[in-house]
Formats: sequence, C-alpha cells, structure tokens
Amino acid sequence: MKPYEIKKGIYWVGVVDWNIRTFHGHTYTTKRGTTYNAYLIIDDKITLVDTVYGPFADEMLEKIACIVSPEKIDYIIANHVETDHSGALPALMRRCPGAKVFGTEKCRDGLYKNYYGKWEFKTVKTGQTLPLGKRNLTFIEAPMIHWPDSMFTYCPEEKLLLPNDAFGQHYATSERFDDEVDNSILMEEAAKYYANILWPLGSVIAKKIEEVKKLNIPIDMIAPSHGIIWRKDPPKIINAYMQWAGNTTKDKIVVVYETMWGATEKMARRMAEGIIDAGARVKLFDVNLSDRTEIISEMLDAKGFLFGSSTHDNDMLPGIAGFLEFLKGLKAKNRIASAFGSYGWGGGATKEIEQVLSGSGIVIAQPSLSVKYMPDENEMKQCYEFATVFAQVVKKGGSDGAR
Ligand code: FEO
Repeated sequence: MKPYEIKKGIYWVGVVDWNIRTFHGHTYTTKRGTTYNAYLIIDDKITLVDTVYGPFADEMLEKIACIVSPEKIDYIIANHVETDHSGALPALMRRCPGAKVFGTEKCRDGLYKNYYGKWEFKTVKTGQTLPLGKRNLTFIEAPMIHWPDSMFTYCPEEKLLLPNDAFGQHYATSERFDDEVDNSILMEEAAKYYANILWPLGSVIAKKIEEVKKLNIPIDMIAPSHGIIWRKDPPKIINAYMQWAGNTTKDKIVVVYETMWGATEKMARRMAEGIIDAGARVKLFDVNLSDRTEIISEMLDAKGFLFGSSTHDNDMLPGIAGFLEFLKGLKAKNRIASAFGSYGWGGGATKEIEQVLSGSGIVIAQPSLSVKYMPDENEMKQCYEFATVFAQVVKKGGSDGAR
C-alpha cells in the first residue's frame, strides 16, 4: 500500500491493522480493526507527525521511503506518548538519529520512561509555532484527550488539524476519507470510540473544543491518528463530540442483565415490553452473550439503564459485576438507573448493584425489584409496571423520585 497524499506535499504514511480485535489490553473490542495514522510533511524541514504501533514500524518506514529517505527527516511531532502512536519511534530514530522530537513536557517524560532513548527533545506549549519553511505548525496542549501528555498540532497554511486520538475511530478501511466510506458505519465507530475511551473526559473535551473555536482558526480537514480523515464535513464530528460531551440523551433505556437459570432473563424481557409500550426505545443485552464495547456504545445516547442479576452468594453474578465496574470508570453523567433480579433465599444482588451505582454518578431513580425464584403472573405484571414507570421518568428526562 502506497502513501496517500492528503494535501499537496502532505502524506498519510500510517498502517492499517486489519486483524486487531482487542485494544487497550482487552478493554475495547475492535471488530472492524483499526489504523495508526502518521503524516509526513514535505517542506524545507521534513516533518513526521506521530508514528505507528511498534510492530508496524517497518511498514511505516517503507511508506516514508516511497516519498523521502527516512534519514532525511528533520522533525518528529509526538502528539501523544501512548505506544500505538509512539511505538515505531525507536526504529525511526535509528534511521534519523539527528532528528528533533517535539512534544509536551509530559510527553518527553513518558517517551523516556517507555523507550529510554537519548533523543533531542524540544518541549512545546500551547501557542508555540514551529516554522517548517512554507508552512508552520502550531501546538495546542490537550491534556487528558486522552492522556496527560496529549496535544493537537495545527497547520494554518493547510487549515489542517492533527488532533491525534480525538475524533478518531477504530475502523480499518482501504479508504482514507469520510466522503469515501459509509457514514453510518463511520459515525457508529466514532461514537463507540468516544463512549469506550473518552466518555469520562467529556467536560475536558467540551472545554478544549470551545478553546479551539475561540482561536477562530479555519479547519478544512481533521486528520486523527485512528481511522478515517474528516475532509467533507469536519464540523460533523466536532458537533457530535459536543453533543456526546454534553451528555445529550434520547428516550432510550439499555437493559443489561446476567441470569443463572432464566428467571432474571424472564424479568428483563417483560421489562423490555413495558418500555416499548410506554413509548421509549429499548436495547436488551445478556451481558455474557454480548460484546461489552457494543453495549457501552448503545448506552452513550440512552437516558436510562436497568441492571439485572440473579443472586449468587448474596451478591450479583460476576459477569454483570465486571461490567458495572467498567461502567463506573466511565463516569456517566445525567443518567438514571434501577436494579432487578431473581433470588432463591437470602437475596442481595440488587443491593450490590445499587452499591456499585452509588459510586458511579448514575442516579438510582426507583427502588429495585426482586423476585423469589421464577416470577409468577403477578410478579411478571410487576416487572412490566416497574419498567413502565421507569420509562415514564426517562421520557420526562429527569430523575423524578431519585433517591
Ligand atoms: Fe490511540 Fe491514546 O492512543
């Protein structure tokens, strides 16, 4: 695969990782693979913005060599220390040991602690500009988007924003641009990426977008470090980020449960019927049969969550426990929830679910519903009503009755 000229004299020299299926350890399922995007700028000073994941270093170097010998690289911009963007740096620096690396102070420390390279590193701050010849690069520190070291790079002459992880998607494609791919899949992957990686950082993201807007810099292309480049409609992804960061939700409820012998599942299915009849949208997932990354993605625009579990050893089952532990870290705001489940004698699952939720920022909107063994006709009616009442609160957009 050849380099791709994204603007005159600026080349995508990244790689497509078609087969990766889990990312960040096993915290993210990448069913459509991913890309690691690096960008080569040919100017008086030959500059590479970011690199790729280490195992793909040779592939990136081959692409660079199609344009210019890697030995000729003068500057390397390290927008982010995480290894999927810096992993190829040691191999690159062996080819161009005199090149200067630019990044934030935290990036300098992070790169050293990862690779122990004795490279010439120049620390940059927001507003500083690096002249390349015909073009300049301006830096915008972006801490916690998505690590403390992160920054954006902007080229005013090209109206090109290189924001690293922000606005990315885990989406392996032969195409490079938003006008070349199915936009429903593109937005699905962008939302999934935001929900599973950036959700807890919403307030930081909203502030940063406002800061960049106030700079009044024209942007006609956003080239992130994963996935597709936004050239047809860059505001589309900026507006989507503002919406997600603002925790805008729909009249939608996600039901996630784990069942031992089917009683909790029976409850969950009747609850889904109650939600639909109350006029709200619902998505229902058995946590052990579904992909956590997909469930979290569905939760991004949902106002309400119902969590169910059978009781086991006076606690919830381990699958839903692990799920809630992950969800807690996402610090979802402006969401309501309630718990339900079946038990045999002592009970305890719903209490434990509420306990985990109490530290999550999600408001418990109504008392939980527990049923002994298999729900009878009357208890199935209670499940329906429980969900109907919850759906009505969701539709009112608030947490009436929150406790
Ligand atoms: Fe794609 Fe934070 O690395």
